[in-house]
Amino acid sequence: MPRTLRLIIAGLGNVNLNLLRIIKSQQALLAKNYQLTVSVVAVCDSSGGVSNPNGLDIDLLIATKEAKRGVASLPGGSASLIAQRLVESIDADAFVEATPVNLQTAEPGLSAVRTALKRGMHAILANKGPLALAYPELAVLSDMGGDPSKPKLRFSACVGGALPTINLGRRDLAGSVIHSVEGVLNGTTQYILRSMERGGSYAEALKEAQERGLAETDPTLDVEGWDAANKLTIVANAVLNQPTNVRDFSVTGITALTAADLTNAVAQGQRIVLLCKAERNAAGSYDLSVKPTALPADHPLARMSEWEMGVVYHTDISGRASATSAERGPMPTAAAMLRDLIDVSR
Ligand code: HSE
Repeated sequence: MPRTLRLIIAGLGNVNLNLLRIIKSQQALLAKNYQLTVSVVAVCDSSGGVSNPNGLDIDLLIATKEAKRGVASLPGGSASLIAQRLVESIDADAFVEATPVNLQTAEPGLSAVRTALKRGMHAILANKGPLALAYPELAVLSDMGGDPSKPKLRFSACVGGALPTINLGRRDLAGSVIHSVEGVLNGTTQYILRSMERGGSYAEALKEAQERGLAETDPTLDVEGWDAANKLTIVANAVLNQPTNVRDFSVTGITALTAADLTNAVAQGQRIVLLCKAERNAAGSYDLSVKPTALPADHPLARMSEWEMGVVYHTDISGRASATSAERGPMPTAAAMLRDLIDVSR
């Protein structure tokens, strides 16, 4: 049966702009394989917002952003149409949130997601802030708290873009005890470390990661380890069922590492990565950490290229399960949002 999924979209940076592009490019596939049509009924960016209950012109939205203009400049647009107002007043099936991460308060994303779920909309996030600071609260408002009749909360784009970190842990390892999780979940620092290892400079590598749309709007979140910590927090909550706030564990970034540290590790048959780790302790809970770690060269996370992120789950009955993804820009993160859109539409 053909279905139309009506979206409210907040934030039109690299990720959601690419989501708009792939909603167009995959239109025929979505119709054929999933009988699904996607309609964008409202959007907002830092300029304000615009809405149309019959669906906005997606090509026009893309052209507006490519011309570096805000959507409030479009006919009917207004500076007052912020995300909170859109989710309060507009009827839609899902709220798609990809505004910049705010690790102090998670706002304005957190309030808008909360409102959307309370109004019965599914929520699909690429913004990690609300999950890093308030996962348990959002889980209770959604199906993630265990009640499948509640709106769905999905965030696979938050934990390594297209890398299936959450699906692998939650769905594919169902029934297993997870002894530990290791992840290289921040693409920017992986790119910087592998570039420095080859003689490149830290500053140039960070600049390239920014130009490719990989780095956070505030890149200190990447290099000081907070983006990786947000992702580990989400894994702890959503996969390991351990209520966790990003402030609960120790986080060390890559800023103190030198090229010599990296090349010395290679000389000793190791590779330094920014490792997210969750390790089950004797009490059955998980000890969490994010820090630069030297891994043996044959470890799955040490063999990865500068473009790759990866996750390794060590389990009791499923053995070791790992996944990697190579991502050279924000498109795969948008693709993860699309897979979540298909999921919530079912
Ligand atoms: N800044 C993030 C990274 C983007 O470098 O991995 C995706 O979360």
